[in-house]
Amino acid sequence: MAEFSLPKNSKITEGKTWTLPPAKTGEERNIRKFRVYRWNQDDGKTPQVDTYEVDMNDCGPMVLDALIKIKNEIDPSLTFRRSCREGVCGSCAMNIDGGNTLACTKACEDIDGDVKIYPLPHMPVIKDLVPDLSNFYAQYASIQPWMKTQSPAPTRERLQSAEDRKKLDGLYECILCACCSTSCPSYWWNSDRYLGPAILLQAYRWIADSRDEMTGERLDNLEDPFRLYRCHTIMNCAQTCPKGLNPAQAIGEIKKLMVERRG
Ligand code: SF4
Ligand code: SF4
Ligand code: FES
Repeated sequence: MAEFSLPKNSKITEGKTWTLPPAKTGEERNIRKFRVYRWNQDDGKTPQVDTYEVDMNDCGPMVLDALIKIKNEIDPSLTFRRSCREGVCGSCAMNIDGGNTLACTKACEDIDGDVKIYPLPHMPVIKDLVPDLSNFYAQYASIQPWMKTQSPAPTRERLQSAEDRKKLDGLYECILCACCSTSCPSYWWNSDRYLGPAILLQAYRWIADSRDEMTGERLDNLEDPFRLYRCHTIMNCAQTCPKGLNPAQAIGEIKKLMVERRG
């Protein structure tokens, strides 16, 4: 059997514990522990898990509220992305309690025991909870995510029937958080060549748009043993999507169109 050892900096060690100061007389507390992945390429140390105590009686309900509180009041060096804090920007995607989700829409009370927070899996880490999404965005650019037309532009907007507009439901809501792609085993092992569920769902969003006139070229661009055909319908993507979307189904629709056009 092949033997291998993990790279030096992949071993996670126990980090610092940040305990709260003693409660004031009469102060009622509801303390929870947040175990958070820490890694900083500049300090030369291996990754570690720091433990932060947070009084939930003095904290908002979501995991992102707790992270912001930790950063503001306990440890300003803790690094993570966030922006909208209402599930629309996709920035705060991370691995919480073993699943990929958005920190701003994940309630602490829905998690039993300590709250374990890691960056999205199988991505290079820039610092702490911030993954490097450069490859993900380059793949997004490769599907040319904008409406492409050949016919002359009308004087006003390009119209779409209500029926055709409906075909974009379940697609346009994607916020490109990358939770699905980073839960997909095929993407873990082939992210250099396989586009992964998020980007393929986005590709289908333009293929399915009645106003787009480059469907053939878009399908040509996906006709490749790796870019599209690494999906083995494992369905992690649909289970993890915090917006309730089903990338596997969109991938299935693209595959169907490929078969249809071959006649
Ligand atoms: S269904 Fe396809 S895209 Fe979704 S997790 Fe499985 S292999 Fe990945
Ligand atoms: S399909 Fe869902 S999980 Fe995947 S990127 Fe879009 S919103 Fe995120
Ligand atoms: S902060 Fe925008 S989705 Fe969470």
